[in-house]
Amino acid sequence: MRQFNNILVTGGAGFIGCNFIRYIFEQTDYSGNIINFDKLTYAGNPESLAGIAAQHKDKYTFIHADICDTKIVESTLEKYKIDCIVHFAAESHVDRSISGPAEFITTNINGTFTLLEAAKTYWQDRKDVLFHHISTDEVYGSLGDTGYFFEDTPYDPRSPYSASKAASDHIVQAYKHTYNLPVTMSNCSNNYGPFHFPEKLIPLMILNTLGKKPLPVYGEGLNVRDWLYVTDHADAIWKIITQGTIGESYNVGGENEWKNIDVVHKLCELVAGETSEPVDSYKDLITYVTDRPGHDLRYAINCDKIKNELGWKQSVTFEEGLLSTIRWYIKNTDWIKHVQSGEYTKWIEKNYVER
Ligand code: NAD
Ligand code: DAU
Repeated sequence: MRQFNNILVTGGAGFIGCNFIRYIFEQTDYSGNIINFDKLTYAGNPESLAGIAAQHKDKYTFIHADICDTKIVESTLEKYKIDCIVHFAAESHVDRSISGPAEFITTNINGTFTLLEAAKTYWQDRKDVLFHHISTDEVYGSLGDTGYFFEDTPYDPRSPYSASKAASDHIVQAYKHTYNLPVTMSNCSNNYGPFHFPEKLIPLMILNTLGKKPLPVYGEGLNVRDWLYVTDHADAIWKIITQGTIGESYNVGGENEWKNIDVVHKLCELVAGETSEPVDSYKDLITYVTDRPGHDLRYAINCDKIKNELGWKQSVTFEEGLLSTIRWYIKNTDWIKHVQSGEYTKWIEKNYVER
């Protein structure tokens, strides 16, 4: 087992990053420090870690900064003697990448380059260090009705988001091959769970059912995604950074494919069970809207490698995960009020066009 003393988590105030930091403190025996480096874009919310920050004052540090800022990145690595970087920070929403790709290019490509360059300079030839890059299954493109993405599936990104993630993956690979930087990488399918910003399908549908607002389904709702509960992703990342083979990439997925319309129906049923409202009062809210341009039809991950080599497996069923997510959104009204009061609401209003 590899051990680290000072882990830098970029994007730790975002959805998966904050769940990963929680997972480390709550479900591992890690006794070192966590430095959360986050610019706090619309998607970053330090409130998601308020309890952790208070409970682990001596082990947890938050740095409000941009991964594109070379000086701050370099000084952070030195000041906190970072020996592991887990790189989540990114612009992550496909629809936003279509309406405004510039930030995606800047953060996802230049930001990753800045981190890699600073890590190379600070670590020199050390081998007891690690740069773990978090990526997505979207870099592999879109599948038809059959087939799976494997680690060696050729990249075929199709949105500005996935193209920017693919570019960052290639730069990580270049630093491995050219400079022998110790890196690992993971490409994961769609996550869901608590602290998910409600522009993404599952939290948006939960909040809109609860608020009796339209449930906007793109196109015919027939696109397929492979859903994974976020703590199962956190567990996979922890296994990779502590036990994964240096230089390797691992696919992570839920083996849990659903058409979007079926996810929405399932959510209506589960929310009805929690609120005792008739399920049809929720299903009637379904509104088919214009499709996402270039909408990838299907993603499906083969994750045999991480299962066979690292003994990872999914532990939360879709039913369990959705129920606990719905309950979390019902309970955490302050968190929701705070995220909904920002730019998010205005952006949603501007972008949906009912068909
Ligand atoms: P998110 O949008 O919820 O969070 C991103 C975080 O990065 C935010 O806290 C934001 O403030 C921060 N950030 C953005 N730009 C920054 C910058 N320039 N400098 C510092 N911080 C910055 O994203 P997420 O859903 O948690 O995704 C995290 C990572 O996982 C991303 O790299 C994404 O590509 C990848 N990923 C996400 C999923 C998913 O289903 N959400 C699946 C596979 C991979
Ligand atoms: O596959 C991993 C990727 O999953 C991550 O890399 C991305 O960061 C993450 O955002 C996610 O991308 P998707 O585009 O698959 O997720 P999203 O929740 O935006 O959409 C899921 C599906 O639901 C997709 O087919 C589009 C559709 N959709 C989405 C929204 C927000 C709707 O039909 N209506 C909606 O309102």
